[in-house]
Amino acid sequence: MFITFEGPDGSGKTLQMKPTADFLRGQGYSVFPAREPGGTSIGDQVREILMNMDNTSMLPRTETLLFCAARAQLVEEIIRPRLNKGEVVLLDRYADSTLAYQGHGHENDIALIKKVLDFATGGLTPDITFLFDLDPQIGLQRRQKSNGEWNRMDAYQLEYHKRVRQGYLKMAKNDPERWFIIDANQSPDMVQSDLNSLLLLYLSNLSNLS
Ligand code: TMP
Repeated sequence: MFITFEGPDGSGKTLQMKPTADFLRGQGYSVFPAREPGGTSIGDQVREILMNMDNTSMLPRTETLLFCAARAQLVEEIIRPRLNKGEVVLLDRYADSTLAYQGHGHENDIALIKKVLDFATGGLTPDITFLFDLDPQIGLQRRQKSNGEWNRMDAYQLEYHKRVRQGYLKMAKNDPERWFIIDANQSPDMVQSDLNSLLLLYLSNLSNLS
């Protein structure tokens, strides 16, 4: 099973990675959590370039290809082998981030980006994706207050982040079988409880099918 977390910056999805991995382990699954961009030695080096605040001259196309390069490495080195072993891969961001940020955010040709993504991932699609939906203004304020990482992507204008959110909502609406929307403007405990309920529902539907 391949599960992904998606959402605007500051939506709190990363905070839910460990509790979700623990929850799934409690259900008897072997779980491998990872994050994008990065998750491999080469991917982590690419992440440095992407997030570096000095790289203000980076063009949207360069950005798109770098995210895809890190992802290609992660898919072949980590994700496919783990899935083949029957593990659950829980990934903090994946190809939908590129569609939301580089596609909708930068207003690039979505069909063209889908082709690049297909090349990078060999067509590997998540089984289930959780969208942590949040007003980007709240998300960015959370990021600034948290004294955590403030990167080159966060520094884009609010209008950009609004397009990212709308892009996500559009993708979720177009593929309701895969996407589940969670209200990320709740306390972390409430978010976790929604997440666990949805996962249980998904898992019980799976076992009814088999
Ligand atoms: P993070 O804050 O979830 O670690 O994500 C890092 C930033 O990179 C975040 O602003 C979203 C952005 N990003 C993209 O723009 N495109 C992508 O394909 C990925 C994976 C992340």
